[in-house]
Amino acid sequence: MTNIYKNISKISLLITMVLMGFNYVSYEEAPNIKKQDDLAASKARGKELYLTYCQSCHLATGEGVSGVFPALKGCFRLESAKATVLVIAKGENSMPAFQNMLTEQQLADVTNYIRNSWGNEGEYVSAQAVKSFLQAK
Ligand code: HEC
Repeated sequence: MTNIYKNISKISLLITMVLMGFNYVSYEEAPNIKKQDDLAASKARGKELYLTYCQSCHLATGEGVSGVFPALKGCFRLESAKATVLVIAKGENSMPAFQNMLTEQQLADVTNYIRNSWGNEGEYVSAQAVKSFLQAK
């Protein structure tokens, strides 16, 4: 084999590896990594908000008080991001409304916290998503 062929095969192997790596990181992984980072940061902010505004009724464990304050842990209603945001923003019966107290980012943060704590699992909710839920109402 001539040197040219050796080099061409090395180069094409390199290009293939670079393309595979590029493809894998930028199209598959990067958005997920970004979302996981966004979710983790949002949850951390949301936890502070929860401890300030919500734990007095729903408790730090999310278990609430039977017959008075509903548990958020394992609560089926939290499966809907929109329903969760709306009840926090608008309130309901003796649940106070937080729309005038929290920004859209803060509503997203506390939503991300309660939907991803105590075994709950929910997709990332952005401030933009909160805005659209509130406008659609
Ligand atoms: C003064 C007590 C109180 C505080 C403070 C409070 N909640 Fe509530 N929350 C309630 C009550 C009572 C309900 C049930 C409302 C109803 O009966 O319709 C409720 C319902 C909810 C629900 C719906 C649960 C379900 O099963 O329907 C969510 C979600 C929720 N609260 C989140 C929050 C978050 C997040 C905060 C803080 C930003 C908060 N709450 C602060 C009393 C409170």
